[in-house]
Amino acid sequence: MSHYTEEIKRRRTFAIISHPDAGKTTLTEKFLLYGGAINLAGSVKGKATARHAVSDWMQIEKERGISVTSSVLQFEYDGYCINILDTPGHQDFSEDTYRTLMAADSAVMVIDASKGVEAQTRKLFKVCVMRKIPIFTFINKMDRDANDTFELLDDIEKELGIATCPLNWPIGSGKGFKGVYDREKKCVISYSDTEKGTKEGTATEISAEDEARLREVIGDEAADRLLEEVELLDGASAEFDLDQVRAGDLTPVCFGSALTNFGVEIFLQHFLKMTTTPLPRKADIGLIDPVEHDFSAFVFKIQANMNKAHRDRIAFMRICSGKFDAQMEVRHVQGGKVMRLSQPQQIMADERKILSEAYAGDIIGVFDPGIFSIGDTICMPRENFKYEGIPTFAPEHFARVRQVDTMKRKQFVKGIEQIAQEGAIQIFQEFNTGLEEIIVGVVGVLQFDVLKYRLENEYNVEIRLENLPYEHIRWIENQDEIDISRLTGTSDMKKVKDMKGNPLLLFVHPWSIGMTLERNKGLALAEFGRN
Ligand code: G4P
Repeated sequence: MSHYTEEIKRRRTFAIISHPDAGKTTLTEKFLLYGGAINLAGSVKGKATARHAVSDWMQIEKERGISVTSSVLQFEYDGYCINILDTPGHQDFSEDTYRTLMAADSAVMVIDASKGVEAQTRKLFKVCVMRKIPIFTFINKMDRDANDTFELLDDIEKELGIATCPLNWPIGSGKGFKGVYDREKKCVISYSDTEKGTKEGTATEISAEDEARLREVIGDEAADRLLEEVELLDGASAEFDLDQVRAGDLTPVCFGSALTNFGVEIFLQHFLKMTTTPLPRKADIGLIDPVEHDFSAFVFKIQANMNKAHRDRIAFMRICSGKFDAQMEVRHVQGGKVMRLSQPQQIMADERKILSEAYAGDIIGVFDPGIFSIGDTICMPRENFKYEGIPTFAPEHFARVRQVDTMKRKQFVKGIEQIAQEGAIQIFQEFNTGLEEIIVGVVGVLQFDVLKYRLENEYNVEIRLENLPYEHIRWIENQDEIDISRLTGTSDMKKVKDMKGNPLLLFVHPWSIGMTLERNKGLALAEFGRN
């Protein structure tokens, strides 16, 4: 095996998905603790502190103390080179959050043990399912009172439709949290939070066969319950099957507490053992193998104005195959040009580092003079293939955009189109009229503010946004077979078209979607838009 193949094979690239406050940041921070490469103080953490430092490129972020961007963290652990893709959460939830998942090979799902599956997890999970990537579950905050363990697993199975396979089993929760039972090793790892977050608490392993010792350490009540639950579990739960995990049909589950750093390293080890090396990716010439094929990448995110002094953009690319060398010439397929990528860099949480080389599985950011679009393919000059496009994700908030000064029509259209090209917003027109009326759709409401701010600051155009009540959008899959003007919808339905003229339907109520399908036999609607 060449050095190059080895580099690719040791890469693991994943995203962490969760609902805000489930503990994603804390878990990421603890992961980093185990990797020596990155200093840990405040490197990810920080609603209040670090996030300012992370990206102070946009006034709006400073004002609100939140991050509109997302970053990549790379660290080494046990011979692996790990890339964690940060998915923006909170109010800054946006299409980028979804797109980040298009660049990951697997996902870690963090669930708050007292809450179960929550809204944002559900949405992100859908994207994982669409991609059929493996999902690993960490049930967090066991040091607080948790829901019943069986119910938590049931919730995941019912809400998300994925089978669960617990790798360990919690013993109590909250004040009564005693540790976890490792199903493979058949032993109990007792809980200690004395090291609060600095390192894994000193674990004591007790074989479950040594019942007397078990009773001594965790107490009779907890021991009785554990033995009973484990018996039940062995009879009831899905068999562990790595193929099913890899296909995204079965999620391995670990319990722990990120804050007190209990169960985190065990989870990381299990995860690394089971997750995949960089996956092959579909292109118009077939599957591209990460090792066999020379360098190729696709753009999954474009971020504007990182440097306020210049109106520059950074295009984020996921390397899908081969080795990237900063000096080499590459082909930008959609732009039809052979070029060198300008200032390739690795964007870490709080720093940017100019790169000389990178490998399949890695994410690089390159300076973009406005030529890249989301989904573009970069490959070797002698090649000319395209990766499968990144879907357009459904916005959930819509507003009509009105220009305050109608004289600045040109700047307005230019600005809004450029911002839409970066993928922060989607723009639509009334179905029957032209450009006069623009409707903008976003995944997270913060994007409305970003749009307003950027149009004012970068294009000198003032706008007013008038919120619309629609929350659901559907793409028409078989538009060639359907006469859109004769479509019978519901009273809360609105027909719009995107900038390419494709028709779409907006709905206020979710049930109207079903009714519209019933009323129009043969109509096929999609939740994702295909480019
Ligand atoms: P997020 O990135 O998913 O939004 O969650 P984050 O890690 O920021 O965690 C949200 C809150 O939950 C934080 O508390 C954090 O300390 C707490 N937390 C995370 N993991 C655990 C855990 O295992 N047990 C307990 N008990 N708490 C946990 P906060 O008070 O909102 O923030 P902070 O003041 O600690 O920064």
